[in-house]
Amino acid sequence: MPAAAFDLEADDLFDLRWHADGPPHALFARLRREAPVRWNALPDGTGCWTVLGHAEVAAISRDHERFSSFERGIFLHPDQVVPLDLSRNLLLYMDPPQHTKYRLVLQKAFVPRTVNALEGAIRARVTRVLDRVVEQGRCDFVDDVAVPVPLGVLTELMGVPEEDIPRFYAWTEEIEAAQRSPEPGAAVEVFGRMAEYLTEQIARQGAEGRADSLVTQLRDGRIDDRPLNDTEIFVFFALLAFAGNDTTRNTAATGMLALLEHPDQLAELRDDPSLVPGAVEELLRWTSVVQWFNRTALADCEVGGQRIAKGDRVVLWYPSASRDEAVFDEPQRFDIHRVKPDHDAFGGGGRHFCLGAGLARLELRVVFEEVTRRLRDLRLDGEVERVPSTWAHGLVHLPVAFTPGPREGTA
Ligand code: HEM
Repeated sequence: MPAAAFDLEADDLFDLRWHADGPPHALFARLRREAPVRWNALPDGTGCWTVLGHAEVAAISRDHERFSSFERGIFLHPDQVVPLDLSRNLLLYMDPPQHTKYRLVLQKAFVPRTVNALEGAIRARVTRVLDRVVEQGRCDFVDDVAVPVPLGVLTELMGVPEEDIPRFYAWTEEIEAAQRSPEPGAAVEVFGRMAEYLTEQIARQGAEGRADSLVTQLRDGRIDDRPLNDTEIFVFFALLAFAGNDTTRNTAATGMLALLEHPDQLAELRDDPSLVPGAVEELLRWTSVVQWFNRTALADCEVGGQRIAKGDRVVLWYPSASRDEAVFDEPQRFDIHRVKPDHDAFGGGGRHFCLGAGLARLELRVVFEEVTRRLRDLRLDGEVERVPSTWAHGLVHLPVAFTPGPREGTA
């Protein structure tokens, strides 16, 4: 639908019709100009503020004293996905000082030295994934590449068997569907199955004497000098299984599409792999696959000239902030040569900034280094199908065709 048709007084930015062709960037640009912080009426008779500008998204993300993740959660409905009582055990739903303590439990696993040490294993995994399709000359980039890589990396980090990958896949699909469902708490059942699985894994890895996986790290994790309880361990596990998966998959898939739409830049990457790290930053900016998260105002305040009342919901739109003309030169131009674009794909900064950003960057770099080397003359080979969501920017199918390139070396 054309951006001009959006009624600033009455229309709902969360209405899927505005997102049918992906994030509505023309509409975001209009809102940044005309209503960067806007009251958005919702179909249930309530409403929330939508925040579109880079500066405002950053200010709210960094102001946890006035904008809470804990109060009413990070989705529009407090019980979306699972009831708030349970989800409040998730890092994403906490405020400091509680958040600071829990984040420390996981932080060690994501420091640069630990993440960088994974490069060899990730490259071997991407190589195996590409080996399976390369001779066919065509594949579905989503099913065959974007899905298995982050899933495989995660199961490896958790020390769980490779053959359980389909289970992880099914769980993330169910959680994602629960996020879209109008039914509150729609993921309770899948959370139950995941908890059972985790209990088995803790027992198995304990019996094997493993001490180096994320599962054993959670088992041994401590808060205020006491061990984590079962619920705490489980929600960490669920958070990692979801946050580390869908997001990386969607960035790989929509990022591949962006490159197919800019074949000159795809060719540059193939000819000069040293451009890939910079290109990954631009792909993150361009795709910003997590569309939004909610905060709740803890006090009356003013943002972007609007008076926000205590208790109001405030929704931060990351893909819009990632294309704010106040920060980026020609933001609607895809350009792999941008220098360190200060995008919002991993959030607006502040305490909740994506814990897995370094791991995601590494996975994406290796994927695009290997893909551009081994899948030559990449081109679209059918209909692209989008995930029908206003929250996740992703693809269901991305059929591509290519010519096999060299398996090894730098050719
Ligand atoms: C391209 C891939 C990814 C994207 C786009 C992404 C995006 C995000 C965003 C937008 C947030 C919220 C930031 C905020 O509220 O300020 C977040 C938080 C988080 N992400 Fe990621 N993420 C990605 C990959 C990963 C990976 C690979 C992992 C781990 C394996 C991960 C783990 C987390 C965790 C644990 C949090 C919660 C942090 C906290 O609340 O303190 N993410 N991510």
